[in-house]
Amino acid sequence: MSLIVDTFGRTVEYLRLSVTDRCDFRCVYCMSEDPCFLDREQVLSLEELAWIGQAFTELGVKKIRLTGGEPLVRSDCDQLVSLLGKLPGLQELSMTTNGSRLTKFADKMHQSGLNRLNISLDTLKPERFTELTRKGKLDRVIAGIDAAKAAGFKRIKVNAVILRGQNDDEVLDLIEFCRARELDIAFIEEMPLGIIDERKQSRHCSSDEVKAIIEQRYPLMLSNKRTGGPARYYTMAGSAIHVGFISPHSNNFCHECNRVRVTVEGRLLLCLGNENSVDLKAIVRQYPGDISRLKQAIIAAIKLKPKEHHFGGEDETQILRFMNTTGG
Ligand code: GTP
Ligand code: 5AD
Ligand code: SF4
Repeated sequence: MSLIVDTFGRTVEYLRLSVTDRCDFRCVYCMSEDPCFLDREQVLSLEELAWIGQAFTELGVKKIRLTGGEPLVRSDCDQLVSLLGKLPGLQELSMTTNGSRLTKFADKMHQSGLNRLNISLDTLKPERFTELTRKGKLDRVIAGIDAAKAAGFKRIKVNAVILRGQNDDEVLDLIEFCRARELDIAFIEEMPLGIIDERKQSRHCSSDEVKAIIEQRYPLMLSNKRTGGPARYYTMAGSAIHVGFISPHSNNFCHECNRVRVTVEGRLLLCLGNENSVDLKAIVRQYPGDISRLKQAIIAAIKLKPKEHHFGGEDETQILRFMNTTGG
């Protein structure tokens, strides 16, 4: 049982650990076009990441997801996976990736002990893919997904952020792609991070709208599948895949939040939509390897976890950090 319990009685069992703010893409909802990346010394080292992982698992965290930026641009990512994978008590070690480097790294990641992969894919049109990611190549990501399957990863989930007027005409194509490859898929409402302008507000597309599009072809049945993340899953006839919806605007899931984030700078962030945080990097740098000090700091920090985020409401929070520095 996790020892990390917040003021609202929620137990934290899931850590999202960011390993880099860098990425080979520049997705429009995630990064600025011309980002300024952190210097190496500002970023947690391999050892520091492993100590933080150890402290969380000793407190009862069962699931760690590596995020970024793009985790696979970090050259020691496989060593990190090996170190974290050995932590007693950890039940799942997973990664969210843009897929671009999976042809090279899928085998290595699987062998190092990574259990699950979530892969971002918002469009199946090559030119549109390059527009949305500002840099990416669709064929490399599709080859990456196939490499991950061939490497032996099971229960791969595709993440698709749906934006009105940009890719909402591809919902059914994405479903067919995932049915054919037996991939789960989660449709995500864009979260307003970074600089929000009118163009960003008008492209919001709700999960209900996406669900209605799917149901024109496939009636969806509510499933009791839970992965420990915020998605609500459905099944459909004729396929074993799960279709999820992550709806920070239209279906607030904060009451059952079980997770916290550590940013690449070692900031323990209690909520995606709130700036309350504690500087774990200061602790690991002042007291290297002192796991009990880290644990005390984490237990104290959990009191700062807010009740909920306020995306989309009248009292909408304006979060100025971008997703890549927050850690997906
Ligand atoms: P699994 O449930 O393990 O498959 O992973 P996940 O859905 O938790 O992780 P993933 O990295 O695939 O994230 C999918 C989307 O959910 C991303 O857009 C995340 O930013 C979003 N997300 C994850 N946790 C939270 C959260 O606590 N709050 C909000 N608002 N969004 C979240
Ligand atoms: N809103 C919703 N999802 C986002 N992601 C990145 N930025 C945003 C945003 N602003 C998604 C990516 C990736 C996951 C980590 O988060 O598509 O799949
Ligand atoms: Fe990179 Fe993922 Fe952000 Fe896209 S969403 S820029 S792939 S970190």
